[in-house]
This record gives sequence, C-alpha cells and structure tokens, in this order.
Amino acid sequence: MTQAKSPKTFRVKSFGCQMNVYDGERMAELLGEQGIAPAAEGEEADLVVLNTCHIREKAAEKVYSDIGRITKRGRKAGKEPLIAVAGCVAQAEGEEIMARAPAVSMVVGPQAYHRLPDMLAKAVRGERASDTDMPAIAKFAALPQRKRINPAAFVTIQEGCDKFCTYCVVPYTRGAEISRPYSDLVSEARKLVEAGAKEITLLGQNVSAWSGENEAGRSVGLGGLIRALAKVDGLARIRYTTSHPADMDDDLIAAHGEVDKLMPYLHLPVQSGSDRVLKAMNRSHTAESYLKLLDRFRAARPDLALSGDFIVGFPGESEAEFADTLALVESVGYAQAFSFKYSPRPGTPAATMDDQIAPEVMDERLQRLQAALRRDQLAFNEASVGERCEVLVERRGKLDGQWLGKSPWLQSVHFTGDVGIGDLVTVDLASAGPQSLGGVLCEPAIA
Ligand code: SAH
Ligand code: SF4
Ligand code: F3S
Repeated sequence: MTQAKSPKTFRVKSFGCQMNVYDGERMAELLGEQGIAPAAEGEEADLVVLNTCHIREKAAEKVYSDIGRITKRGRKAGKEPLIAVAGCVAQAEGEEIMARAPAVSMVVGPQAYHRLPDMLAKAVRGERASDTDMPAIAKFAALPQRKRINPAAFVTIQEGCDKFCTYCVVPYTRGAEISRPYSDLVSEARKLVEAGAKEITLLGQNVSAWSGENEAGRSVGLGGLIRALAKVDGLARIRYTTSHPADMDDDLIAAHGEVDKLMPYLHLPVQSGSDRVLKAMNRSHTAESYLKLLDRFRAARPDLALSGDFIVGFPGESEAEFADTLALVESVGYAQAFSFKYSPRPGTPAATMDDQIAPEVMDERLQRLQAALRRDQLAFNEASVGERCEVLVERRGKLDGQWLGKSPWLQSVHFTGDVGIGDLVTVDLASAGPQSLGGVLCEPAIA
C-alpha cells in the first residue's frame, strides 16, 4: 500500500440489520471526532466504510462488487479512496478480504470498531490493518457521546447470540451473548432524551436475553429494564427487537400490559411452522409453544401487532412442512413480516445437510408465503382505519406539506399539517395500503 493523504470526507454504507445501522452511526460519530466530515450527496468520499452483513450469500457477495465500484468511481474522480470493510463479513472473512481485495486497507469486526481511528492512522501511513478481536463490551465505553439524535433513536443493549440455529452465522460473527450494564443504559437513555429522542428502540440479536442488576442490586431482565426506562421523563415510547421465543419471561409479558410507554408491537421470529424443521433448525420451540406464547402476549396487550421472520426451503423441507408454515401464518395474522429463502452459509451445520432444496422450489414457496403475509399486512392496516392514535413525526414525506411518522403499531403514517420532526401528534387513520396508512391530523402538536 502506498501512503495516503489524511481523509477529509467519509461515507459509511450499512447493510443488514438495525444493529448494523446503529454501528454505522457510531462509526460516523467516531470519524466525525477525528475531524473528518460526511461526504456531500453525490460526491466521492476520501474514506468509505462498508459496514457489511453476512446473513445470506447475496448480502455477503455484495461487498466485493461494492469495493470494485468504489475504486472505479474514485479513479474517475481522480482519487484513491481509503476503504474499510466493517461488520459481519469483516468478522467472518477478514483474511479472505485482505487477500482478495488489495484496495481494502482496513478490516474491522463488529466488536472492534472503536479502534477505527487508530487503524485509520496506520492506513494513512500505508499499512494495512485488521482487527477482528471480540473484547465483548469494551467498545461501548470507548464510543463518543451522541450529539445528533433522531426522535426515534436506537440503543444496543445486548449483543451476540448463544442459540446456534443451524442455518445462522450470527453466533460466529457477533460472538457470545453479552448484556450492557443497567446503569449505563438508563443514563444513556436520559442523555438521548436530552438530545431530542422521544422513542427508544432497544436492540439486540437476542434482546430478550438481556439481563442486569438494578440500582438495588436485584437481578432484572428486559421487562425490568423497560420499567426503569419508562420512568425517564420525556421519553414517550419504548420498543425492542429482536427477540427469541426462548427468552420471553413472565415479567416481560406483564410489562406489555402494564407499561404504557411500551408500544404494542412484538417482533418474534418463528422461522417455520413445522416441528420437524424447527428441530432441525435447532430452534428450541415448536409451532404450538410459539402460538401459546403469542396468546399470553395478546392476553396482556390485546391490540398487540405481531411480526415475524420466516425461512423457506430449509434443507429437507417438504411441501407438507411448508404448508405447516402457511397454516401458522394463517392462524397468527401478522401485521408485518420478513421472509427469506434459505441460504447455505459456510461453517454452519445446515450448509452440509442432505436434501438441499432446489432454487425454483424455494422461489415458488417464497412467493406463496409472501402473498399470504401481504394479505395479512393489508388486512391489519385496513382494520386500523378509523382508529385515533399518536404518531411520532420522523421526517418529511415525498409530497409538499406531507409528513411521515409511525403509529404505535409501527405502521408508517403519512399526513399533512403544521407539525415538526419529533412532534407526537394525534392522527385519525383514514386510509390503508399494504405498506402505509394515510391519516388526518386532529390536534396541534404536543411539544
Ligand atoms: N436474532 C434474530 C434474527 C437474526 S437474523 C432471531 O433469532 O430471530 C434475521 C433473520 O434472518 C432470521 O430471523 C432468519 O429468518 C434469517 N436468516 C438467518 N440466517 C439465514 C440463512 N442462512 N438463510 C436465510 N435466512 C436466514
Ligand atoms: Fe441466528 Fe438463531 Fe441466534 Fe437468531 S437466535 S441470531 S437466527 S442463531
Ligand atoms: Fe447481518 Fe450481522 Fe446483522 S450478519 S443481520 S449485520 S448481525
């Protein structure tokens, strides 16, 4: 590598889950502290951070085509941008990236990105640097305080996964389950609210596995943390994602009925409706235990909107087993869902299982599943028409005078009126589409 000039501008591109988006924002803040500014829209940056996702093959391959594109565009603009690969592909394939992509000067894993400034100093000197250590929680203490905050903010409270579903790379890319301390989280929430946050979404690969000790030294779970955060003045809404059916305890379920600030929405991935497939996936629940769990949540909070994740075409999945997934979908009536074709991931047990399913069979099953999920999502939105609810205004809409925000059930709502970003306003839901609802503002903004 030749020596490079110190970068003046940067761009962070994040792929994958919300935690990656959160990490991407943290990296942008770290770079900002180094005096590097975000590149203007449409301009080539001096430093590009690709914050990658390894969950499915397509997502992981994208990193190499992106590197090629960045180098080419940089050359056209007369510069040689520094490239850092961060995120889960960096963790899983760091060495391979270094070998395959000479244009990359930094590889940094999801638990090591607080060291990005040091790595950058090396890269400027012409040395390549790679850091995929997993020092568990050290990162959070080393990150700068957040200054610019969206009204709907995210906070990572838990990271990593010990569940080892047989198809999934996350336990390898994010490491073992760790929980950030209770007191750090309560004080971070206070600071975020002071900086303008009205809603906080608590993030974790298995957020419901969070545990900590409260100020009285008593051990608490996610429900206890939510109850503590609900006492933070000025915080109006709390959400959390993603949970695993195995870690949902009584207190968390009860919190859904007792804590007004906890929004009526639950993302609880199921993956399949077939018990044989669930077992082969190493999911610790059955279709029935999952449905019973949902019943308990609904008993605590009858208007709960449900969301899930699904995989079609897991090795050996028969047509009858896929039909079990459709039947489960039918009986739940999801308000939202994410569905994927199974993608064999290197190093995971499922990748070498017999009976891998043909791509065209997966395509066809995914289409049928998504048609059912779309139908239910539209039905859920249509059933909301006529409701009066609070909407948190997050940004301007495409049309003149239009605003976009989220309902308590995480639906996108657009409406017009004299409001501002960060306002919590009362809206009558008036029309429904599959992706969003139209509303009518019925009250001036509550400051
Ligand atoms: N921790 C969360 C989700 C992590 S990944 C949970 O356990 O629910 C997000 C989703 O990606 C998963 O829920 C699963 O539906 C999907 N996914 C994970 N690995 C996959 C693979 N190899 N192929 C296809 N989809 C996958
Ligand atoms: Fe992956 Fe399963 Fe862990 Fe979710 S619970 S991150 S799907 S291993
Ligand atoms: Fe992807 Fe890593 Fe998130 S693999 S889904 S970015 S935890």
